[in-house]
Amino acid sequence: MIHVCQHPLVQHHLAALRDAATPPQLFRHLISEISQILFYEATRDLKLKPSTVTTPVAECASATLAEVIGLVPVLRAGLGMANALLEALPTASVWHLGLYRDHQTLKPVTYYNKLPANHGLDVAFVLDPMLATGGSANEAIRILKAAGVPRVIFIGVIAAPEGVQALRATHPDVPAFLGAIDSHLNERGYIVPGLGDAGDRQFGTV
Ligand code: PRP
Ligand code: URA
Repeated sequence: MIHVCQHPLVQHHLAALRDAATPPQLFRHLISEISQILFYEATRDLKLKPSTVTTPVAECASATLAEVIGLVPVLRAGLGMANALLEALPTASVWHLGLYRDHQTLKPVTYYNKLPANHGLDVAFVLDPMLATGGSANEAIRILKAAGVPRVIFIGVIAAPEGVQALRATHPDVPAFLGAIDSHLNERGYIVPGLGDAGDRQFGTV
């Protein structure tokens, strides 16, 4: 399932995020705002278990999350998303996954993987603002599945149709929650109109 968020705030923040004049400080803030809204949509189906809490007045039937949740930011650009989502769900564990795109082949190269052997995750959210060719997302999801994570969900800010198609073809069981699907990829594998290089714009390395 591909879900493109229709929330007006996401569209509003996307306009500023795409703007080439937006500086890194504001860019990080906007990534954070958009990611949290996408996360609320992507977590709609998480399982709950019943619990009881004692309020100052009486006992109250309640519910808490029944599943162990992992956030998997794809370095570097997914880092800002992970920070934002930890604010929304501070009990989540974070598994950093370092992938970069080789500039010639556009294929992902893994350089860092910090998943503990006994992770115990029920659901992992792969976080990467850009779904371009889909190579990085597909590789991240492959690694998670190989590590035995039962359920994987992708959250991205801007996608190219090529990336969506690649994700669907390789991991049809993985839902994707996106802020927008743009026109196409250019000859250098950048999303058009997109926002440029999400890692560089977030960390001021343009
Ligand atoms: C960017 C982006 C994704 C990847 C998407 O990372 O953050 O991880 O490209 O492209 P794909 O769908 O074609 O794989 P990049 O390689 O620029 O690394 P960086 O975040 O460290 O700059
Ligand atoms: N990675 C980015 O950061 N931007 C793109 O447009 C494509 C890949």
